[in-house]
Amino acid sequence: MANTKQLFSDTCNRLPVSIEVDQLKKQFGRFVVLDNISLKVEPGEIFVLMGPSGSGKSVFLDLLAGLSKPSSGRLSINQEDLQYVKKTKKYVMGLVFQSGALFNSMTIFDNLALYLREHRLFDEQEIKSRVTQILDMLALRNISEMMPSELSGGMRKRVALARGLLMEPDVLLFDEPTSELDPVMATSIIELIGYVNKQLRITTFIVSHDVVLAQTIGHHIALLNNGFIREIYTPQTLLQSSQPFLRNFLNPTINLNRPRFLSFLS
Ligand SMILES: Nc1ncnc2c1ncn2[C@@H]1O[C@H](COP(=O)(O)OP(=O)(O)OP(=O)(O)O)[C@@H](O)[C@H]1O
Ligand SMILES: [Mg+2]
Repeated sequence: MANTKQLFSDTCNRLPVSIEVDQLKKQFGRFVVLDNISLKVEPGEIFVLMGPSGSGKSVFLDLLAGLSKPSSGRLSINQEDLQYVKKTKKYVMGLVFQSGALFNSMTIFDNLALYLREHRLFDEQEIKSRVTQILDMLALRNISEMMPSELSGGMRKRVALARGLLMEPDVLLFDEPTSELDPVMATSIIELIGYVNKQLRITTFIVSHDVVLAQTIGHHIALLNNGFIREIYTPQTLLQSSQPFLRNFLNPTINLNRPRFLSFLS
């Protein structure tokens, strides 16, 4: 990926942004998923939000992407309200969905070109050059005429990352970038996100269960539990914490004589 900075010269010329989350609450009816969450993502860093299944990670990411609205509290980018930022298109948010969320009826090339065409950012020749370069960078050469259904899960995730990057976003948001991948492919996705962050300094927010991902590329890490975030960790303090919920999340004990799910049945 020698020419990353060249391809993303626009991104490199912009200052990285911060994300502020202030007393955020989200409820569906009477069910409170996120309760009074405040955190700050520093410009150019990778923030990883961890939490068990169903704890509200995807709900949080949808709020950050501006796809849904908080019940109360405030989300802002560089201290400007997210809804205002969305309306004025001041900053670009690149959301990389868990499944890739590619359009099944379009080739990979058309999936990747879509945003650039819709926003009339470049002529067709430049679009072709950019899409080809990014496919080369992500070791996805020769797939541009294939359909999403013809790709493996790992390839789809890389295409989704390529699509996010081609938007030259101010913020990159990832939902479970390593789930459903074999350990080698998961590691290469972790490396790629870390590499892109180092090269381009795009403020990155990842929701994930993946402890290895959090510890290797996360600058700050938070754990969501029952709608709350107790503490913000660094990779070092995460390991040192004696907080029982965190310890159990990082290192669950396996007891074949008393499976956890039995407690729901009895
Ligand atoms: N639109 C909705 N209406 C009602 N409840 C919802 C809605 N969206 C999410 N929820 C509920 O919010 C909770 C959190 O869901 P979410 O998808 O954010 O979990 P998650 O942490 O991403 O889980 P996973 O790790 O399995 O992806 C769940 O109990 C879910 O049922
Ligand atoms: Mg989820």
